[in-house]
Amino acid sequence: MSKETIEQFEKDRYLLVKNFISPELSKVMTTYTLHQNRHNHSPENANGQIPHTHSVHGDHLMESVFEHTWSKMEELTGVELWPTYTFYRVYKQGDILKHHTDRPACEISATICLGYDYSNLDAFKKTDYNWQLWVNNTANGQRYGGDPKQDRGYDMQPGDAIIYRGCEVDHWREEFKGVMQSQVFFHYCDRNGPFKDAKFDCRPGLGYPYTSKIPEKAHALKLAEAKYHGEYQAGGKHADEKDKWV
Ligand SMILES: [Fe+2]
Repeated sequence: MSKETIEQFEKDRYLLVKNFISPELSKVMTTYTLHQNRHNHSPENANGQIPHTHSVHGDHLMESVFEHTWSKMEELTGVELWPTYTFYRVYKQGDILKHHTDRPACEISATICLGYDYSNLDAFKKTDYNWQLWVNNTANGQRYGGDPKQDRGYDMQPGDAIIYRGCEVDHWREEFKGVMQSQVFFHYCDRNGPFKDAKFDCRPGLGYPYTSKIPEKAHALKLAEAKYHGEYQAGGKHADEKDKWV
C-alpha cells in the first residue's frame, strides 16, 4: 500500500486517501466542531480567506489526532515530516475557497472531511451532491497557474483526506450549496527540506497557541522562505501572514 501511495504522491503531488481517519472518529470530531461553532464561536474576519466562518488554529482535539496520525502521513507520502499546525473550519452555505497555494508551513498538507449536512438539498433530490475539492498539479505554485484541462475535482466522505503539496498544487472549492461542512487541515513540512524551521509552526510544541511562536524560529523560517523565493529584504516584505494561505 505505501509503495503505491508514495509513487502516486511523487508523480501527482497529491493523493486521495479514503478513510484516513475512521468514520466514527470523524463523527465525534464533527459534533465537537459544531459545539465549538455554537458556544465558542471564532469567525474569520471580513478580510479573511472565508469571511465570518468559524475557524480555529491549533485546537487541542485536532492537534491530538494530528499527533497520532503523523506516522501514517509519513508512510503514505514517503516523506519524513515535522507536523506544523492544524486548522479547522465549519463552512457555511455560500462559502467559496478561492484558488490558492499555501505558505511554507503548509508544504505538505492534508484536508480531511469530518462531516457535512446537505439536508437542504434533499428536497430537490440532489442526493448526489458533494462539495468537491479541486486541484491542479500543473500550477507550479501559482494560483490559476495550471493548465485548466488538468483541473480535477474530488468527492470526499467523512474520514477521507486529500494530501497535497500545498506550496505547489493550486487548490480551491466552488460555492458551497449545503448547510455546513467541517474540514480540518493537517499541515507538515519536510524534515529534510528548505522549510524544516516550520516545525510546530515555530511554536514550542503541538497544542501551543499561535501567539507562542518563538521569534528566532519564525525569523529563520522567513529567511528560508525568502531564500526560496529570492526576494528577501531585511525588515520589510514579510509581514505576519496568518490566514493568508490555509
Ligand atoms: Fe490551502
